[in-house]
Amino acid sequence: MNIYFQITLLATAIPLTWCAPSSEKLVKRATLNDIATTGYATLNGGTTGGLGGPVVEVNNLTAWAAAVADDLPRIVVITGPISGSSQVMVGSNKSIIGKNSAAKITGIGMYILQKKNVIVRNLIISKVLAANGDGIWIQKSTNIWVDHCEIFNDQDHGKDYYDGLVDATHAADWVTISNMYLHDHEKGSLVGHSDNNGAEDTGHLHITYHNNHWKNVYSRGPSLRFGTGHIYNSYYDNMFECVRPRKGAQVLVESNYFVGASKPIFGTDGYAVARDNAYIQCTNQNTAPAGTLASVPYSYSLLGSGNVVAAVLAQAGATLTF
Ligand SMILES: *[C@@H]1O[C@H](CO)[C@@H](O)[C@H](O)[C@H]1NC(C)=O
Ligand SMILES: *[C@@H]1O[C@H](CO)[C@@H](O)[C@H](O)[C@H]1NC(C)=O
Repeated sequence: MNIYFQITLLATAIPLTWCAPSSEKLVKRATLNDIATTGYATLNGGTTGGLGGPVVEVNNLTAWAAAVADDLPRIVVITGPISGSSQVMVGSNKSIIGKNSAAKITGIGMYILQKKNVIVRNLIISKVLAANGDGIWIQKSTNIWVDHCEIFNDQDHGKDYYDGLVDATHAADWVTISNMYLHDHEKGSLVGHSDNNGAEDTGHLHITYHNNHWKNVYSRGPSLRFGTGHIYNSYYDNMFECVRPRKGAQVLVESNYFVGASKPIFGTDGYAVARDNAYIQCTNQNTAPAGTLASVPYSYSLLGSGNVVAAVLAQAGATLTF
């Protein structure tokens, strides 16, 4: 904590990269009342989660599931490890926040179905079997902010043993996924689940991904059908296929750093605008047809592709303290 404050004070004078060896995460101060300030989750009325509701601490599955079940505003703080083989249904108006690095969720997925206004932050989620859904599954839901979480599995069981790390389907909308460490997995993040779901999805699925660290994920960083995606300031390390717009989806992909990808930006029937991306040891670059998403209706800060790796390594994942 003290180190973070010192670095903050020095930051105006000394570039972050000088202070932050890549092996060491900067601890970042946050508050339980934080609301979404970046990306599509700031539109459509904004994303405030449980702001205004009581703070409830939980450290077991029963208490956690009960605390998020209804739609009343509530800030639910997870204070210790919770493991099992299950799925927690998440209601509207919730902030679900890991108190510190003890908040490790193993084997339990979160399902946000037909809900509105949910924030999930600072959790380390792993090993959610496909039978229990995605790590975080956002379906028919709007105004969702997932921030500073680490989600991972492994690549040892074939691609359908686990499902997605964080997926958004069935006309989910106004979503921001930021500062995540997403790693060791086959099918990263799916937006729009089927080629045949255009009637429901078209005009929805607005989603922003930024300042994320993707590592050792085979594909879907994200794969996005029908929707609108803004992907920036992210570090893709050792993926086969990264950003894939499909079925008329439009993506704006900027200020990212791709290393060792076969298909950094890949599309045939989805469209991309790509600006200032670095492609290091990649087989291809951007193969998607030229898109129309040249701007987005919110303000944001680009790091510049050359600064992404140091910044993302220092901050991505469950690095918040409260
Ligand atoms: C779960 O935590 C609650 C408090 O949040 C406690 O009352 C309850 O006994 C705990 N249940 C188990 C099974 O440990
Ligand atoms: C969310 O909370 C607001 C009040 O803060 C309430 O009006 C609304 O009904 C809640 N949403 C849902 C889906 O219940």
